[in-house]
Amino acid sequence: MMTLIKGFAGKPSHAPLTDVSIGAYTVGVLMLILGYVDVLDSIGVTEQALATGALLAIAGGLIVAIPTSLTGLLDWADISKGSNARKLANYHLSVMLLATACFAATFVLHRPGYLDGEVTLEALIAGCAALGLLTLGGTLGGALAYVYGVRVVKKDVSLAEALIPGKLSEPAGVSRPQARGSSASGGGSYGRDAQAGSGGSVVSGTGDGDTQAAPAPAATAPSSLAEYEAYITGKR
Ligand code: HEM
Repeated sequence: MMTLIKGFAGKPSHAPLTDVSIGAYTVGVLMLILGYVDVLDSIGVTEQALATGALLAIAGGLIVAIPTSLTGLLDWADISKGSNARKLANYHLSVMLLATACFAATFVLHRPGYLDGEVTLEALIAGCAALGLLTLGGTLGGALAYVYGVRVVKKDVSLAEALIPGKLSEPAGVSRPQARGSSASGGGSYGRDAQAGSGGSVVSGTGDGDTQAAPAPAATAPSSLAEYEAYITGKR
């Protein structure tokens, strides 16, 4: 059940949901701007139409923000506490909650304008502020995915495993890291990755892009959770 909500390995639910929310919010704020400056009237796009569209788009963004936040929270819970990835995820969470509150405020402020068919300055300012926060939060979320490799499975697998949901296994947040100093990818070990990352070493599973490096030496790579815990606490 949890897998269905969070998405399968290699197919996380949070990322596509964020696209829907961000798309709706962006269209909504764009409509607020265009409605306020009212330059499209000459081609038949009235302020009234834009005021209507803006509220509906922002409402859509707010509705989708519920499953988006839920799936984000589930991914957040899998990130090792104290890791740099977790710190960044905390910032991402806070900024996104603030952005969502700002969009909710925009909705409330714009509702009278929606009814009257106009865009007010207050609604416009709130919408632009919310969009700014959304951009900041999205940038932090992007770093979680593309720097720390959160929910990234970087493996040379068959096309069937890559494409068919459920065919691929994803290590849990604190499992199966590669050996210290290895640049190999294994995916999912973002907690330790983050800690190693702050030390400047080359880390594993960060989804850092294009290279498929050699696997870590088996002799040094922890293979169980207990071994891994010993590994990160320096007892190994
Ligand atoms: C409680 C709120 C949230 C938490 C805890 C959270 C957590 C996370 C985590 C852990 C990631 C890493 C990648 C992944 O899990 O797929 C992420 C990525 C991301 N999040 Fe959130 N998130 C939250 C809400 C949101 C919302 C509301 C949005 C946008 C409307 C959003 C936008 C993004 C974006 C754009 C990424 C990068 C995804 C990618 O490009 O792969 N997040 N978030």
